[in-house]
Amino acid sequence: MSQINLTINGESVQAESGMTILAAARAAGIYIPTLCHHTELDSYGSCRLCVVEIGSGERKKVVASCLYQVAEGLVVETESEKIKGFRRTILNLLMHRWDKIPAELLERYGAKSQERFVDNMTYCILCGLCVRYCHEIKGANVLGFIGRGTIRQVVIFPNQSAKYCADCCPDDMECLDFCPTGVINSHYYGARPADGQKLPHAHPVCINEDMNILEIFERVGNV
Ligand code: SF4
Ligand code: SF4
Ligand code: FES
Repeated sequence: MSQINLTINGESVQAESGMTILAAARAAGIYIPTLCHHTELDSYGSCRLCVVEIGSGERKKVVASCLYQVAEGLVVETESEKIKGFRRTILNLLMHRWDKIPAELLERYGAKSQERFVDNMTYCILCGLCVRYCHEIKGANVLGFIGRGTIRQVVIFPNQSAKYCADCCPDDMECLDFCPTGVINSHYYGARPADGQKLPHAHPVCINEDMNILEIFERVGNV
């Protein structure tokens, strides 16, 4: 590991090679908002809330700070007008999926509900934290994404759940703690049984109410 010198918002910051801009900024006490990042999991780059501008003049570009690594002499801006505008747009959209986004975040970037966006209150912001926790930490692949665009959602694969959940997470459904919106709890169908028993399908599903879950399982070959 070698030391890297960069500039964030005009301040000189030291970081170690291999660190992301996000990690370097946070270590220096500089705020960058995130929704899909967790220090225990690999970066995923889905929410784009952590975007920052790097470079200067004509060569400026916007990158996801949770993915982009520091480099010697890198110049970073975390709150330029362009970046605030990006975050405002992302939050404007997310407000139509999750109406409990922290108010301070909305206020900070001037986000407001937009008539042109249709409400799709799934309370799932598609951050993938539950999916990645199951895959990366438990090695289980019980949860996954299906669909694209507006019909993208998180689903449980029942056969996998029956095979892994009770053994991988014997005391608690550990993925529940990773859901920032709590939706995975509210769709938790089936209670944990008394000690020692195992339930095959005691698991949350994050359902888009407009979709028929059986159709989804049929599509992915799990029924
Ligand atoms: S409870 Fe099941 S889906 Fe959740 S992390 Fe554990 S193994 Fe994965
Ligand atoms: S269910 Fe929760 S943790 Fe999983 S993708 Fe949706 S918001 Fe993220
Ligand atoms: S935290 Fe970087 S894309 Fe979500």
